[in-house]
Amino acid sequence: WFMCFTLFYGVSAGDPFSNNVLDSQVCFTNGFAFGVATASYQIEGAWNVSGKSESIWDRYTHQHPERIFDHRNGDVACGSYYKVKEDVQLMTQLGLSFYRFSMSWPRILPDGLANNVNEDGIRYYKELLDELKRNHITPVVTMYHWDLPQCLQDLGGWTNPIMAEYFLDYARVLLDNFGEQVKIWITFNEPVSFCEGGYGGDDAPGGRSSGFEDYMCGHTVLRAHGMVYRMFEKEYRKKFGGHMGITISFSWLEPATTSAEDQRAAETARQFNFGWFANPIFSKTGDYPPIMRGVIDANSKRQGFPRSRLPYFTPQEVKMMRGAYDFLGLNHYTTYLVQQGSRKIRNQPSYEDDVNVKIHQRDDWPKTNSSWLKVVPWGFRKTLNYVKLNYGNPKILITENGVSFEPGLRDTKRVNYIDAYLRSLHAAVYKDGCTVIGYTYWSLMDNFEWTRGFSERFGLYEVDYNSPSLTRTPRLSAKYFTNVAKTGCLPN
Ligand code: NOJ
Repeated sequence: WFMCFTLFYGVSAGDPFSNNVLDSQVCFTNGFAFGVATASYQIEGAWNVSGKSESIWDRYTHQHPERIFDHRNGDVACGSYYKVKEDVQLMTQLGLSFYRFSMSWPRILPDGLANNVNEDGIRYYKELLDELKRNHITPVVTMYHWDLPQCLQDLGGWTNPIMAEYFLDYARVLLDNFGEQVKIWITFNEPVSFCEGGYGGDDAPGGRSSGFEDYMCGHTVLRAHGMVYRMFEKEYRKKFGGHMGITISFSWLEPATTSAEDQRAAETARQFNFGWFANPIFSKTGDYPPIMRGVIDANSKRQGFPRSRLPYFTPQEVKMMRGAYDFLGLNHYTTYLVQQGSRKIRNQPSYEDDVNVKIHQRDDWPKTNSSWLKVVPWGFRKTLNYVKLNYGNPKILITENGVSFEPGLRDTKRVNYIDAYLRSLHAAVYKDGCTVIGYTYWSLMDNFEWTRGFSERFGLYEVDYNSPSLTRTPRLSAKYFTNVAKTGCLPN
């Protein structure tokens, strides 16, 4: 009789059998998926085990411990290389439908090149994929989450155009070995972060000066993405099916005032941060954003360079990259206010001078453990609407959203962050019509947060780095997220 009751009358707010399904309850419907993310260097450890070679992050953290906040490294990290079963159990307990993780290039190809495939690397990821399958969790695999083989960095890393071909060969090894099991592929994670951090500044391993190498890195990465996507389309989709995209980070950049200058500055900042990689792939032009092109061409000229520091694509490359996606992977964490900058163009070129904006966050926005991350949920909705409006409403997978707070299991602040961001996301999808197919929390567990070492904790599970077994314990947020993932609804 209860069935009949609900069928004919619907579930009313006051119905004691309704399991709290109020009319106003916020629910994600139509197969909207929930998952968590990690990355190889941040969790695996086993940095030199069973044939794995040195990555740029191994070299960087070993050579410059002083550049890492707590002077530590990812040699051991969360020990996930040894904890396949245990980690998948954590996901099962969360009731997740997918797991986003990355494969380590130097674990699979120790020489960087495809002549020497490390069987242990293949075995390890096969084991992980089998375990996920047994537990009905869909794998979402990132091919490159920043751990380049050091031997390729010695050739110039991403500033060397040949890296696009090497990446193509690596991608082929991944598709040949895992294409049957993996149906959702992400070529690159946050290219601005590793091109700007690595080849524009000192925040990550890479080259030296900004204003040249960062744009060269970006150029190679875009070409590499296009090449891999077209190969996938031509040779693998028929065989295996599947979807491929790229993950780009997009913090919301809001004009600080209503002045025309600040509006313009915010738009410039968006183009340099998001458009740099989004435009060539997701816009109709297949090329860099006109604002970026205009600014860098003009600045290069003023600096006396005979060619623009921002390289040009050939017409064939434009064709290759335009539309080279099945979905957009979007990482979103926070929001900044943008003002017009007042930089003079110096002889020494730099990305910062090119962008020429000042960004800040309001003091009354709730703080987190990360200096760069304040809680500004409304920015999420604005970000998604901006993408919808300017890039033809592409299919989006939120590949990361998350927050770091002090250690402790009663993490109500994290619960509030996730809840608020999910409400903003919900409005973007169900009120504004943005096409979002799923949400990924960063991260499954605390892990090595790059130059911040282990001092930042983003995990739904707390990792006890002092215990020999690197124990994982669920936080309150794990309980909260389990409920969301299982019901698709946010608690009232
Ligand atoms: C961006 C990166 O993809 C990930 O590696 C990092 O840990 C998180 N966001 C948090 O900063």
